[in-house]
Amino acid sequence: MFTQARIKLTAFYVLIIIFIISVFSVLLFHYTAQHIHDNIEEDSVPHEIQQKIIKNTVDQLQASLIFTDAIVIVLAGVLSYWLAGRTLDPIQNALHAQEQFSANASHELRTPLAVLRTENEIFLKNKKSSPEDAYLLAQSNLEEIQRMSSMMENLLLLARSKISSSQTEQTQVALSPVLKNIMSKLRAFADSKKILLQNTVAADAHAIGNEKLFEHLFFNIIQNAITYTQQGTVSVDSKKSLVGELVITIRDTGVGISKADLEHIFEPFYKADTSRTISSAGVGLGLSIVQEIVKTSGGAIHIESELNKGTTVSVTLPTQSKKLS
Ligand SMILES: Nc1ncnc2c1ncn2[C@@H]1O[C@H](COP(=O)(O)OP(=O)(O)OP(=O)(O)O)[C@@H](O)[C@H]1O
Ligand SMILES: [Mg+2]
Repeated sequence: MFTQARIKLTAFYVLIIIFIISVFSVLLFHYTAQHIHDNIEEDSVPHEIQQKIIKNTVDQLQASLIFTDAIVIVLAGVLSYWLAGRTLDPIQNALHAQEQFSANASHELRTPLAVLRTENEIFLKNKKSSPEDAYLLAQSNLEEIQRMSSMMENLLLLARSKISSSQTEQTQVALSPVLKNIMSKLRAFADSKKILLQNTVAADAHAIGNEKLFEHLFFNIIQNAITYTQQGTVSVDSKKSLVGELVITIRDTGVGISKADLEHIFEPFYKADTSRTISSAGVGLGLSIVQEIVKTSGGAIHIESELNKGTTVSVTLPTQSKKLS
């Protein structure tokens, strides 16, 4: 598909160049031929010889113009082919990324659907199923449905934040209550793993951005910190950077992320090897959303991690309104 498009684009470029060269050559030919006529016409030279000289010079001019044009057109063809390739490259990459995204999304949806189908089929085939079996089946079904709806929500959020990055309403957001609220929502999850949650965010911590997006941003990071920690502490802290921006730091004492994985964890559907054995691990969309939100807010995110020691995520957010690109 892209080879055909590249050839078409090349032909289009070459046609434009041929048109420009033809117009330019015709004008140049007429102007120069006229110039030759005006300069060669002299009374001392017989008329026939004059005509011969003019004809020869004009023929030579025509031949050299055709020769030069042919070389330019061949060169333009080669350059156009290269340029068409360069023009189509980002489109091809974007299309490939989108295909990959759709393939990953359908793969991740297929897994809980397959679990749902198999569990229900086994239950229906077993004539001696008890009410307790039915209860366990409903519980398992609900878990898979929750997994799917959380994934759908994340997919929608990712698509929406990409589309509307420039349209989100930016206000001054007090982050202390936002983070308190997130931590109280995640407290039961942390308690179930006996993880201590610490919050030392300054009461006056604030940043410019969108409150709803900040909620998603920090929920995903703190949820990760708890999910990928087997034991210990998850702490959330705030400080001002040297240039007056707000830095929120989330530290955990969890499984950590290897250097190789760190380079990829913001890619949609990427999961590090360390998370594969963790039952509550997700599908790999959280940090892609986090990155989109940070970009939308004009901030930055930095992750430091050491395997089996823990991870520190620092999010820098603007505290003054500025024009976002
Ligand atoms: N605090 C952390 N400690 C260790 N590994 C982490 C941490 N945060 C993220 N990771 C790794 O980065 C991967 C990507 O994280 P991300 O939040 O994007 O996806 P997820 O948690 O797997 O799924 P989702 O957030 O979509 O439910 C995770 O699978 C995990 O391997
Ligand atoms: Mg996550």
